[in-house]
Amino acid sequence: MKPGSVSMPRFPIDPEDRKPLGSTGERVPAIGIGTYGIRSYADAEQAIVHAIELGLNMIDTAEMYGNGLAEEMVCRIVKKVGRDRVFITTKLLPHRFTDPDTAVRAAEASARRMCVETIDLVLIHWPNDVLPIHVQIRALEAIAERGLARYIGVSNFRLSELREAIESTSKYEIVVNQVKYSVLDKAIEKNLLPFCIKNNILIQAYTPLERGAVARHPTIISVANRYGKTPVQVALNFLISRPMVVAIPKTERIERVDEFYGALGWRLAPQDIELLEKV
Ligand SMILES: NC(=O)c1ccc[n+]([C@@H]2O[C@H](COP(=O)([O-])OP(=O)(O)OC[C@H]3O[C@@H](n4cnc5c(N)ncnc54)[C@H](OP(=O)(O)O)[C@@H]3O)[C@@H](O)[C@H]2O)c1
Repeated sequence: MKPGSVSMPRFPIDPEDRKPLGSTGERVPAIGIGTYGIRSYADAEQAIVHAIELGLNMIDTAEMYGNGLAEEMVCRIVKKVGRDRVFITTKLLPHRFTDPDTAVRAAEASARRMCVETIDLVLIHWPNDVLPIHVQIRALEAIAERGLARYIGVSNFRLSELREAIESTSKYEIVVNQVKYSVLDKAIEKNLLPFCIKNNILIQAYTPLERGAVARHPTIISVANRYGKTPVQVALNFLISRPMVVAIPKTERIERVDEFYGALGWRLAPQDIELLEKV
């Protein structure tokens, strides 16, 4: 680069704090809350209710988390805040997608645990390696067809698998691919993210804090200090500055929910995004 010339981050900066859910016309918050590995369900419940009150009203869960205990916590949260105030994603295990009836039964069990009639978004937790993708997608679509899910999507699908999933749909669109993405792990930026931006698939970035490691990285710390923000806020802001990306950090502490909230309403400058692209 010539001295004095302005370089650009790899992707255009998205200033929106509510992101499009595929091509549905609906928007979801740029930051939702994860529910994996909860130690105290009472604390997590309080923290998530607080998040919803702040507008971080998207919960990510899975039938697998806590063997159903995380979904049962979602039920208590829904009863507290009201069904229409929260967008709920759950993920069903790959072996549920052998046929439509098996998938529908698993979705019914999840809906029952969460005390909802309809789940906002149901995902295949990861691809079933022994089943053709079109078989899995047919079973996934059956969940929406029976009114158990408003939207469908996938998780941990590589680009080739995502393409095949999209081609396999007959009636519903794949609105989300939930994958690992953080400022310290930008593998998806090579192929998957550009494809999702182009095709209107929302990325739900999981493990966005690298389980706390982002708070210890010297470059992230130095950027954070310049903005008067925390490293976690910078790490989340980096992700949500990308088009078609939302982050789903997990916490069971109210003060950390407030910290996540502080990642909204502003964006890193292009040169700092560029700096973080190199870490
Ligand atoms: N689709 C998939 O295969 C998949 C895989 C993994 C995760 N997920 C989803 O994504 C969510 C988030 O991912 P994750 O739980 O793996 O990792 P993460 O969000 O990167 O990290 C969560 C961990 O970081 C800690 N933490 C939170 N805020 C912090 C802060 N300000 N400073 C330091 N540490 C902090 C949390 O502890 P405290 O709770 O004590 O705050 C928790 O132990 C999961 O909960 C789950 O819903 C999906």
